[in-house]
Amino acid sequence: MLYSEKVMDHFRHPRNVGVLEDADGVGEVGNAKCGDIMKIYLKIDHDTVTDVKFETFGCGSAIASSSMATEMIKGKPLTQVMALTNRAVAQALDGLPAHKLHCSVLAEEAVKAALKDYYDRNHLPYDPEQFPGISCEGCH
Ligand code: FES
Repeated sequence: MLYSEKVMDHFRHPRNVGVLEDADGVGEVGNAKCGDIMKIYLKIDHDTVTDVKFETFGCGSAIASSSMATEMIKGKPLTQVMALTNRAVAQALDGLPAHKLHCSVLAEEAVKAALKDYYDRNHLPYDPEQFPGISCEGCH
C-alpha cells in the first residue's frame, strides 16, 4: 500500500484542526508548485506550547503531516519545537512516498513560521538563520 496506516489515520481523523483566536504565534506557508496552504496557530506559555491548531488546504499527506506535527509539539518546550524536522514528522507517520515528502516540509515550515511570528511579536531575539526561507511577516 502506498500510504501507511498512520498516514491514513491522521488524514481521516486529523488531530487539532481549527483556529486559535488568541494565538501567540501564527504561521502560514504555501507550496508554490501544488498550491497547497498550511496555517498553524500556537498558544505559548513559559516557553512551552500549551495549545496548537492547524488549518490545511491541501493534499492528504499535507493534512496528515500537519496533524502529526501538532501532536509532536503540543506540550513541548520551544527548543524542541524549533528542532522539529520534516524527516521526524514523516518518520512518525511511518514514512511518506518519496514524491510526497515535500508535504511534510510544509508542516515543518508552518510550525517554524508560527514560532518566528511569536518571537517577532514579542521582540524576542533569535538567529534568523534558524528560519531559512521564511519571510518576515511580522515586520509589516
Ligand atoms: Fe501539495 Fe502535498 S501535494 S503539500
